[in-house]
Amino acid sequence: MRISVIGTGYLGATHAACMAELGFEVIGVDVDPAKIQRLARGEVPFHEPGLPELLVKHVDSGRLRFTTDYAEVGGWADVHFIGVGTPQKDGENAADMRFVDAAAMSLAEAITRDALIVGKSTVPVGTAARLREAIAARRTENGLPGRVELAWNPEFLREGYAVKDTISPDRLIVGVESAHAEQLLREVYAAPLEQDTPWIATDFQTAELVKVAANAFLATKISFINAFSEITETVGGDIRTLADALGHDSRIGRRFLNAGVGFGGGCLPKDIRALQARVSELGLNRTMQFLNNMDEINLRRRDRVVDLAAQLLAEDRDDDGRTHTTRTQILQGTRIAILGAAFKPHSDDVRDSPALDVANRLFCTGAATAVFDPQANANAAARFPRLDYVGSAEQALRDADLAILLTEWPEFRELDPARVAELMRTPRMIDGRNVLDRTAWDAAGVHTVGLGQHIEP
Ligand code: UGA
Repeated sequence: MRISVIGTGYLGATHAACMAELGFEVIGVDVDPAKIQRLARGEVPFHEPGLPELLVKHVDSGRLRFTTDYAEVGGWADVHFIGVGTPQKDGENAADMRFVDAAAMSLAEAITRDALIVGKSTVPVGTAARLREAIAARRTENGLPGRVELAWNPEFLREGYAVKDTISPDRLIVGVESAHAEQLLREVYAAPLEQDTPWIATDFQTAELVKVAANAFLATKISFINAFSEITETVGGDIRTLADALGHDSRIGRRFLNAGVGFGGGCLPKDIRALQARVSELGLNRTMQFLNNMDEINLRRRDRVVDLAAQLLAEDRDDDGRTHTTRTQILQGTRIAILGAAFKPHSDDVRDSPALDVANRLFCTGAATAVFDPQANANAAARFPRLDYVGSAEQALRDADLAILLTEWPEFRELDPARVAELMRTPRMIDGRNVLDRTAWDAAGVHTVGLGQHIEP
């Protein structure tokens, strides 16, 4: 079977390389010639563990090729996956469907034989049915040969684990309208199916909704525990113990109950907003209103970090005997080490990154911020060029008045608190991800507070 993958970002590039790994001949298609050239040389344009090795292996073997030309795949592939982005529209909650629509229409015009188009992108419910009609109409207009069908097969991969999630997924969901389409997809996924991966064949709407429901549920879980953080911050209590205790209830589960600075990235935030926009279009405004609260709770965490920073730094100012009442008065002239810029560890992605947003807010309020991320410094600098980026955690920590851990990279968790105490001007840490052993850090001389921890005003 020959496979094309349209779009070579996180999703498409990973899917293309993994399809080659599963034994298929694959061509990746993208409208960006620079990206295609890099991939064809075996270079992955982003950080994703395990992907570079897979790409080089299959580019070298000739099983994986790249092109900008739809015509090259139109007469060649049996199955075309669409894996382009659906970012949030500027100034609106809705998803921008331009790239999906363009990919579907380009395929509709290029395919000259029997083929299955399979959407993988995260889309508002109703998209597949709309595209089915648009593709059929365009093909009839152009009088093209071949029978072209559409299926929807949402992707659940996590950045940082993209290869594993693609080759050994938790479940496979396919929205199909014929036994033939389901059979073709069973052949594509024969390897994971042999490992008893759950297979759910359903209609278009369910397939589209499974994806947005999964991300909305994950976002809700994170905001749920973060809402309880607001309570423990006020009355006391240990948010980590609360999460552990809840997690022992197998109906709830411990995963995605890590309280901290909240969720970010290119998926969860925009997907819950797009879902709200879509239900509102459907006249169901009240149905997903709770997601608005989830989004607000999430964004309030970022404010909380800035407030906490000001509260801790005010202690020094009070020693001067002067009165500093505003955040700006307190933060001006301070130096803050920011540990982490990526939206999560094992990624260089800074889209809607809580870490970078907090760093930028602190900078805009007058603090000097020294940012270090093991992988994301370059992407962060492209987005917020005015922040100061340094080459190591030690450089960030040197002479800092406060350190804030915002992305829980293993190397930050493994920092030696005694060494950190030596480096900093005032050894003080906000653990924005609740991953440090606060007792050990305090004992080593670094006053450490977590999000969700009650601090005397
Ligand atoms: C998410 C979903 O987990 C994937 O299943 C989905 O396929 C993907 O979106 C997508 O739609 O493409 P991803 O964005 O890679 O994957 O990141 P997650 O691992 O879900 O983390 C999202 C954010 O939540 C991160 O900022 C992370 O730090 C935060 N988080 C996660 C918490 O704050 N607490 C937790 O307990 C877990």
